Amino acid sequence: MTQQELCRLAMDMRSRAYAPYSKFTVGAALECADGTVFTGCNVENAAYGETICAERVAVTKAVSEGHRDFVRLAVAGGSEDFCYPCGSCRQVLREFAPGLEILCLNGKGEVHALTLAQLLPHSFGPEYL
Ligand code: THU
Repeated sequence: MTQQELCRLAMDMRSRAYAPYSKFTVGAALECADGTVFTGCNVENAAYGETICAERVAVTKAVSEGHRDFVRLAVAGGSEDFCYPCGSCRQVLREFAPGLEILCLNGKGEVHALTLAQLLPHSFGPEYL
């Protein structure tokens, strides 16, 4: 899949978001080494703390379907700013893919590409246990 196709999937997933409280819709598309892609959107809750981000929806879908070998993630927000994964999502992604490439998109579809290691340096992971 091309970078543009992965980004398009993430952008399209924003329409599935359930974000009545923040109105901030996010879509994610997570690519595995074998080419399989899992998508996600943010799902909010009236008990605000139970909200789950688009990236973690994609990760949990993938892991529950037997996929853990992630290579690339696209995450799309709707504002002028690039949508960077929150701290919790960075840590969850780190568990499976410390070398993950991340494509962060803004509402115009512009991309800021970086790595998980840049977003979460000196991180803690399963090999420390
Ligand atoms: N959100 C995501 O889904 N991913 C991010 O990378 C940033 C934040 C969601 C959580 C919440 O539903 C809304 O955006 C506002 O924080």
